[in-house]
Amino acid sequence: MATAGQTFAYLVVLIGLQAYEATEVPNDQVNGIVHGTVYLNPKLIVPLEYTQIIWWVNETQKILTKKWNQTFYLNGSFHNKLHYHENHTLEIVQLQKRDSGIFRIEVEDTQSKTTNERIQLNVYEPVPKPSFNVTIRANEDGWCNVTLECTVNAAQVAYHWYKNEKDFVGKNSSTLDDQLKSESHASYKCVVHNPVSEEAGLVYYRSPCTWDEKNSAVPLSLARKTADSILAFGFLLLVHNWV
Ligand SMILES: *[C@@H]1O[C@H](CO)[C@@H](O)[C@H](O)[C@H]1NC(C)=O
Ligand SMILES: *[C@@H]1O[C@H](CO)[C@@H](O)[C@H](O)[C@H]1NC(C)=O
Ligand SMILES: *[C@@H]1O[C@H](CO)[C@@H](O)[C@H](O)[C@H]1NC(C)=O
Ligand SMILES: *[C@@H]1O[C@H](CO)[C@@H](O)[C@H](O)[C@H]1NC(C)=O
Ligand SMILES: *[C@@H]1O[C@H](CO)[C@@H](O)[C@H](O)[C@H]1NC(C)=O
Ligand SMILES: *[C@@H]1O[C@H](CO)[C@@H](O)[C@H](O)[C@H]1NC(C)=O
Ligand SMILES: *[C@@H]1O[C@H](CO)[C@@H](O)[C@H](O)[C@H]1NC(C)=O
Repeated sequence: MATAGQTFAYLVVLIGLQAYEATEVPNDQVNGIVHGTVYLNPKLIVPLEYTQIIWWVNETQKILTKKWNQTFYLNGSFHNKLHYHENHTLEIVQLQKRDSGIFRIEVEDTQSKTTNERIQLNVYEPVPKPSFNVTIRANEDGWCNVTLECTVNAAQVAYHWYKNEKDFVGKNSSTLDDQLKSESHASYKCVVHNPVSEEAGLVYYRSPCTWDEKNSAVPLSLARKTADSILAFGFLLLVHNWV
């Protein structure tokens, strides 16, 4: 059984490799953040002696040529944004969304044989802080039935919801429906994320069917401190009256 399973696994890998060769899908993916830096590390072996190395973007735009001890950074949107390291890592700084694309290193050896490797670069905006749109669907018979919408001005994001810090497992959508009856308080957190950043927003519920993005109830620790200082002040007054 194990052997059959293994054979099957090898077959899947082989078929996968063939598909990969045929379509020339990048074999590596790197995510970057706007204004950030990424390092593209090709895995191919660059021989000690080679004629030239060329980096291309989206198959048509040549951005860098290296011949022995000279590196040429070509004019275009990547000029002044590249650093080529001796270990053949390409560093890209001051990333912009439009820098996303397929980067290809082409190595030409001394026999004029070329080897290629493709790396997909995806640049994302940092996720902004989300806000809420609360729609009360029903407020009757003691029920508060609500739709919470977590809104954020960003594309390509995923959502995660928590109620009272407990995970709503698998809930990945900008809206959440809930019904409350017996609870006097509750907090809802929406975490919005993309591959490079995340932000969270909180909305609070108070019975009966009141919603607020700020937690207006006085936190317990603060209430306690106030009570303590009132006590201390009372004691001082007492001492003052004695003297
Ligand atoms: C590059 O190497 C060549 C030959 O080895 C040499 O003549 C030239 O001065 C070198 N250039 C730089 C910028 O180091
Ligand atoms: C690159 O751009 C600079 C300034 O814009 C220009 O002087 C230079 O000739 C250009 N070089 C090439 C190879 O196009
Ligand atoms: C190559 O050098 C750069 C800069 O020192 C480093 O960031 C990168 O990780 C190195 N790449 C590899 C594959 O070791
Ligand atoms: C590469 O192509 C994609 C999709 O067409 C485009 O969004 C991106 O800006 C291009 N990248 C560069 C560096 O031109
Ligand atoms: C909030 O929801 C209402 C009703 O669905 C909709 O009209 C409104 O555009 C939404 N506002 C935001 C900021 O999403
Ligand atoms: C509110 O939700 C509760 C629980 O699902 C349901 O029994 C009730 O009918 C809902 N009320 C309205 C008006 O939709
Ligand atoms: C969540 O939804 C987004 C948008 O529909 C999708 O891109 C993402 O892969 C989903 N994430 C998970 C963990 O299901």
